[in-house]
Parts: sequence; structure tokens; C-alpha cells
Amino acid sequence: MLMRLQILSDLHLETEVFEPEPAPGADLLVLAGDIDSSWQGYARFAGWPVPVLVVPGNHEFDRRELRTALPAFRDHCAHLGLQVLERDEWVYTDKQGRCVRFLGTVRWSDFEVFGPALQAKAIKAAGYFQKVMQATYDGRVFDAAAVRKEALACRAWLKAQLDAGAAAPAPLWPGQSGADAGGHRTGVDATVVITHFAPSLRSADPRYGQQPTTASFCNSDEELMRFADGWIHGHVHWRSDYRWPRPDGGSTRVICQARGLPRKGESEGFDPLRLFKV
Ligand SMILES: [Fe+2]
Ligand SMILES: [Fe+2]
Repeated sequence: MLMRLQILSDLHLETEVFEPEPAPGADLLVLAGDIDSSWQGYARFAGWPVPVLVVPGNHEFDRRELRTALPAFRDHCAHLGLQVLERDEWVYTDKQGRCVRFLGTVRWSDFEVFGPALQAKAIKAAGYFQKVMQATYDGRVFDAAAVRKEALACRAWLKAQLDAGAAAPAPLWPGQSGADAGGHRTGVDATVVITHFAPSLRSADPRYGQQPTTASFCNSDEELMRFADGWIHGHVHWRSDYRWPRPDGGSTRVICQARGLPRKGESEGFDPLRLFKV
């Protein structure tokens, strides 16, 4: 039996009113970023009946210093019993024995989605980050160039993880072991990537089409998909669920379960209790 995921992103609880509820039958809850820029809304997920995985969004870093914000965010979530993935792997075996490896990172934007010729234009259009986020990195403005640097580091980490295969799973209960005598994994059934930023232009919001600012939302990570069974993202306030064909004849399921902003009609038709099987 497949693992059933409840997925939520872009709740934007810093301004929006929404009461998250556990989806009946879910094995895990995945929060794919932009849940609450103030972090306070994360308290609503404390005591959740199933494990909660959190990949922060860009807005979790608003008006913060990146160097110190990530460790502080990890602490904040750890106190609430939530599992933060930022360049982290987490292997989980559900009660039916299905073992899924999750690889999580914000990913940011490398502005390469339209190719090298249009990269400068895409970076120029990305004033979004600087203006909206007002964050710093090492005390300097977290501008588009700094975003790109961070994005490339995230991508390198993700590629290395996907290339290398899984580490030994963490035991789910005392005495359970997912590792063989040599410490290698035994039977990871699926690999699921979680990023806040979108991995493909196919996830782009059709309301805006493909313009230079689209590079602030979507990367071109299709090449990495051949190592992933599923790819969950947020950031784009347009829900999608599609399959990207892989060279091996299989396909990678790409899912965005963003709620978005009701005042823009983005939450219309949003089903927060929907389950996705991986
Ligand atoms: Fe968002
Ligand atoms: Fe976002």
C-alpha cells in the first residue's frame, strides 16, 4: 500500500485566516513553505497525529538574517515536534512497511530557467526578493545575486543526494532498524523531493505566463527528476499535479498544493484534506 501524504503550502497565516485540520487516513503531513512568515502559525501543527515535515519557504526568512534564521527556525519547529528539512534527508517507514526517502530544501531560484542568455534579465526582474523579503545574508542585503548563490548550493546538495542514494533510515520505533549490518539502507521504496520553489516551468502560474519574473518562481530541475518518484513544491500560488516523463520510461509526479490568497481567488477549490499517494 502506498504512503498517503497530506500536503499544504502557502497558507500565509501571517495575513490569512485558515484552520488546518488533520486529513483522515494520512500517514504524514508535508508543509512546503510560506506557512507563516511570523512562524507563530506553526504552533497549530504541534501535537499533530502524524509526523509533520517542514520545508521553509522564502517568507519564513522575511526581515531576517539568513545565517541565524535557519537555526532559530529549526529550534522553533523542534520545540513544536515538527521535522525541518533544509538540505536534509529523512527516511520514514509507515505502519504498512513502506519506506520513503524525503529530500527537502528551499531550493530558492537560480534564474537559469530561461537559459544563460536570459539569466541577467531574470535576475534584474527579481527585485521581488529584495523588496518583499528585506532579508540579509551575512549582514548584506539578500538580493537576487545572493538568492542565486544560495539556490546553486541547494541544487548541488540535492543532486549529490539523488546521485548517492539513501542513507540508513532513522528507526521509527525502538528496536526497528532500516539498516543492514553494514549500515546501508534496506529497501527504500520511493524517493520524494520537497522544495519550496518549483522544479519546472510546467508548474508556472498560467495567469502570468512566462515572463522574466517567472524565473523567481520556477527552476529547471527536470534533469534531477529521473532520480525522484515524486516532487512536492509550493511558492507558485497555482495548484498542479502532473507527471514528468523520465528517460527510464517512468515518470515523476509533481505536486503543488498551495492554498494561496483568497482575495485573489487562489484558494477557490482548494481541498486541504486531499491525500496524495507515494
Ligand atoms: Fe507563497
Ligand atoms: Fe514562496
